Amino acid sequence: MSKLSKARDYVLQNKDKVNNEYRLNYHVMAEIGWINDPNGFVYYNGEYHLFYQYYPYDSAWGPMHWGHVKSKDLVKWECLPVALAPDMYYDADGCFSGSAIEKDGKLYLMYTGHTNPDVDNPENIRQIQNIAVSEDGIEFKKVKHNPVISTRDLPENALPQDFRDPKVFKRGEEYYVVIGSRHQEGDGQLLLYKSKDLLNWAYVGVLARSENNIGKMWECPDLFQMGEHDVLVISPQFLERDGDKYCNLYSSVYILGNCDFKNCKFDFNTIDEIDSGFDFYAPQTLVDNKGRRILIAWMQMWERNVPTHDKGHKWAGAMTLPRELKIFKGKLYQYPVEEMKNYRANHVSYKAVIVKGTLALEKIEGQSIELELEIDSLKANKFGLKVLKDEENQTVMYYDRQEGKFIFDRSNSGEILRGSESEDIKDVRRVKVSLLENKLKLRIFIDRISVEVFIQEGERVITSTVYPKSTAKAIEFFSDEKILIKTLNKWDIRVKEEV
Ligand code: FRU
Repeated sequence: MSKLSKARDYVLQNKDKVNNEYRLNYHVMAEIGWINDPNGFVYYNGEYHLFYQYYPYDSAWGPMHWGHVKSKDLVKWECLPVALAPDMYYDADGCFSGSAIEKDGKLYLMYTGHTNPDVDNPENIRQIQNIAVSEDGIEFKKVKHNPVISTRDLPENALPQDFRDPKVFKRGEEYYVVIGSRHQEGDGQLLLYKSKDLLNWAYVGVLARSENNIGKMWECPDLFQMGEHDVLVISPQFLERDGDKYCNLYSSVYILGNCDFKNCKFDFNTIDEIDSGFDFYAPQTLVDNKGRRILIAWMQMWERNVPTHDKGHKWAGAMTLPRELKIFKGKLYQYPVEEMKNYRANHVSYKAVIVKGTLALEKIEGQSIELELEIDSLKANKFGLKVLKDEENQTVMYYDRQEGKFIFDRSNSGEILRGSESEDIKDVRRVKVSLLENKLKLRIFIDRISVEVFIQEGERVITSTVYPKSTAKAIEFFSDEKILIKTLNKWDIRVKEEV
């Protein structure tokens, strides 16, 4: 049996063995096994396709396959058969991350073939780029030209062990691809190649480099235009912490600037973290038929324990909500896609609620909900809410006027989650935001083990996983001085079929 058939068969035969305790309701997950980065996120033939780094056989990372889901509206997803398996000499140890593009009605995937012939000698790792093509968006054929970009297409300064995650796009008549690379000196850089047919590629140059200021290896690049801006998204490993920013082991950042394709140069203006939470990595974007730029990311972080793995639940990992991107005043804003509103149910609404001390409101609770609220802070210093709460668990978020920050605290959320972070940030994330006319606006999406907080109309987002008991669903507001909750809306989010 081929590796691909074996993987598909395994999923079919074993998906019912997954423990459902922590399964999400409206986020993308695999049916069984481990997932990481989103790959090949594309709008094709009237549907959204999303692939992902996938190891079906364990709830931990292993030789990478590409899993696959599709959707008509970015909310209700249909699971499709595994798309790629590591079954060729050039991808024998993994089909690593990559992207998708349509050409002449066909769907092209471009991905990194990873080979690691000798685990004791990582210097023998090679990463090269390949193409697989599909006529129906489900069955993919690896082309005979593979590898389409190989080690000999690298500039001399680039290490052949770290050359991955191609993001392919079209500008004018030309196809381009940006690929993450590591300079011999250890820092990250971005290589640009171009092609007329997606099969024959020519090296253009180094588009940008970390110079050791923006972390080490640059993973999962994305490059696109929004208005007058060129936007570069990268996921640098080991980006050094800068106060409240870049607190995770690896970070995802956006850089606004100007991209000169002719001279192969990206001039930076702004750089900032995309999401201020614990669990957000390797985002990828698409543009759809409505012209929306939509981003989705892996809702987890490397090198932390994953409770569904620790407890033998046979699955690990999910994606964030898809978010529409916009740029205002030189900053990237994120909005949950409009289509989320079609799945709102059981609306409960309050107006003009005063809080001093603590307050719970009837029917404001749940583990699979959206909350929308606008708070007039009056003269309060610390005010916020606790969600996913019972006698033992609570996930706390609040605004601290003195600090001028929104703070997210998962120290009592449930199962302990540990990585390599220092003591002061192991359970807490902070992000600077200003009150607008003394008000705080929040949209909070809770889905069993995830909390995504859109702050001040998408100016900042905090995304984190938490693992409370299934009974922890209460919500409590709190404030040190009087606040006025001007409006509060709660909906259950109902996506009937399995996601
Ligand atoms: C990022 C990443 C990519 C790589 C993939 C392997 O999370 O390390 O650089 O292609 O995951 O699964």
